[in-house]
Amino acid sequence: MDKFIITGGARLKGSVRISGSKNATLPILAAALLADGPSVFVDAPDLADVRHMVDLMEQLGARVSRDDEGRLHVEVADESNSHAPYDTVRKMRASVCALGPLLAKRKYARVAMPGGCAIGSRPIDLHLRGLRALGAEIELEGGDIVAKAGRLKGAEIFLGGPFGSTVLGTANVMMAATLAEGRTVIECAACEPEVADLAGYLNEMGARVAGAGTPRVVIEGVERLAGVCHRLIPDRIEAGTFMMAAAVTNGEVRLENVRPDHLMAVVDKLRQIGAIVESDGPALVVSSSRHPATADVTTQPYPGFPTDLQAQLMALLCLTDGNSVITEKIYPDRFMHVAELLRMGANIRKEGPTAIVTGVKRLIGAPVMASDLRASAALILGGLVAHGTTTVNRVYHIDRGYERIERKIGGLGGHIERVGE
Ligand code: EPZ
Repeated sequence: MDKFIITGGARLKGSVRISGSKNATLPILAAALLADGPSVFVDAPDLADVRHMVDLMEQLGARVSRDDEGRLHVEVADESNSHAPYDTVRKMRASVCALGPLLAKRKYARVAMPGGCAIGSRPIDLHLRGLRALGAEIELEGGDIVAKAGRLKGAEIFLGGPFGSTVLGTANVMMAATLAEGRTVIECAACEPEVADLAGYLNEMGARVAGAGTPRVVIEGVERLAGVCHRLIPDRIEAGTFMMAAAVTNGEVRLENVRPDHLMAVVDKLRQIGAIVESDGPALVVSSSRHPATADVTTQPYPGFPTDLQAQLMALLCLTDGNSVITEKIYPDRFMHVAELLRMGANIRKEGPTAIVTGVKRLIGAPVMASDLRASAALILGGLVAHGTTTVNRVYHIDRGYERIERKIGGLGGHIERVGE
């Protein structure tokens, strides 16, 4: 198992190109199950999670290849197997995105129910509620969701849950509704840019999805969808991570291939903390030459502050001159990074879904353990600013969602090395 050895102190400087979005690529790959003919995806990142989804697509009868320019070519050649087994789904929860497309296109799906997750309980009751509303019969058999239906029928569906909207739930129901008979209305739909990018791909294939990116999405069902070429949006969470890396190291980083309009809540928070964030044409430049100021933050569904940047922000707020309050409203238990940051000399008190971060003069390098994707990004940020050397173990967590992060950080002057065990 690889680990990262990080020596803190370097101020990150230079340009970095942000990869295509992981969280757009995963449901969009699943949506290719709806298509007749080939699809081509431009800027699909080369990540462990994307490779898991490709593996699942191949099990479900698709031919998938990546050409010399890194484009992913996907074409469904055989629809005989519609079973997404536990061994695949347990590696990546987003596999559940195959449920809607399989049901709509093949009238049958058997998908293992995703299990536990380090960031907290992640039920899929809203996904099932939406698919049942479209007419699916759904049973649980031996840990598998077994869904059957004739042609799905459009319906009015309220998809709000205890924590608000659901991103992949909206994606699943939206994909299923594209081939349903009649009109579907999804109320309390997730507004994330990844949902809008998925709708973009579906509409390029001939679907009729309106209102994606807003809480009310209307889908007029069509008979068939034809594969197309689609470019993925940039990864706003990777971008946010590098923006915080620039701020925490008092560096100056130019981010290329970003969508500033997807990052408003992040830019706002960084400016509150005292970082300078400027647009430079299509790029964003983030710099800082001072100690971060304290700030309170509550994670929310888009366009609020993303939960996937909560851990990275916490690493930054460890070095202020006072108290900051972080409230996690999406995954109340998403604080695995706290114990590891404490090992680096941070001062954080957790109380339920809230963490009170009292700033310290400095962090100290230490061996720490990655527990999940975004927690591991926070530990890297901590290591980049800590005195001495930090060893981040189990970096397979970070490889799930960041494309060659050590090369990108190295390219900005950061001292990070991947070491195999
Ligand atoms: C997506 O997960 C992202 N994953 C997550 O990013 C992200 O943290 C999350 O959205 C929230 O922004 C992908 O896009 C692949 P949700 P998703 O359904 O869709 C509850 C990362 O780091 N809920 O929007 O699974 C749920 O428990 C990952 O890249 C129900 O109660 O999240 C949570 O509290 C981690 N019932 C809240 O809603 C349901 O049926 C939001 O979850 C579904 C969800």
